[in-house]
Amino acid sequence: MALLPILRYPDPRLHKVAQPVAQVDARIRQQIADMFETMYDANGVGLAATQVDFHERLIVIDVSQERNQPIVLINPELTWTSEETQINEEGCLSVPGIYDGVERHSAVKVRALDENGTSREIEADGLLAICIQHEMDHLMGKVFVEYLSPLKRGRIKTKLLKQQKQAAQA
Ligand code: NI
Repeated sequence: MALLPILRYPDPRLHKVAQPVAQVDARIRQQIADMFETMYDANGVGLAATQVDFHERLIVIDVSQERNQPIVLINPELTWTSEETQINEEGCLSVPGIYDGVERHSAVKVRALDENGTSREIEADGLLAICIQHEMDHLMGKVFVEYLSPLKRGRIKTKLLKQQKQAAQA
């Protein structure tokens, strides 16, 4: 297994649209293992392949306190979304240190393949529902800060670029 570098906003590669996974094979299972290692190492609850510069429709999630309930979503599609929405504070491993409110469906159903290539439907609410919607946005090239006002987004971009510049000089 290997830790993968996580792309940081505003890296343009975060805006690439991911292609469907053609076959769930050893290559994909290796990518899943590396993504889980990377997500757990960064204390994240979810990671989309886009964030590690792998542009296929693949997501790993674990919203459990114990970090022992891994969920793999390959080629995910929402099959139902609740009318009810709610606003929650979100963060993102690609936008370190930034948290802000985003409106999402309170509950969703998602159909996806697992790591064995088996299709199943998952019904989710709470943090899992938020996480699924956030990660599926990544696969479409969308980062959560794009829900914020242009003014806020501009400030975030400036702050992160400054941090990245300082980190590169250190
Ligand atoms: Ni994210």
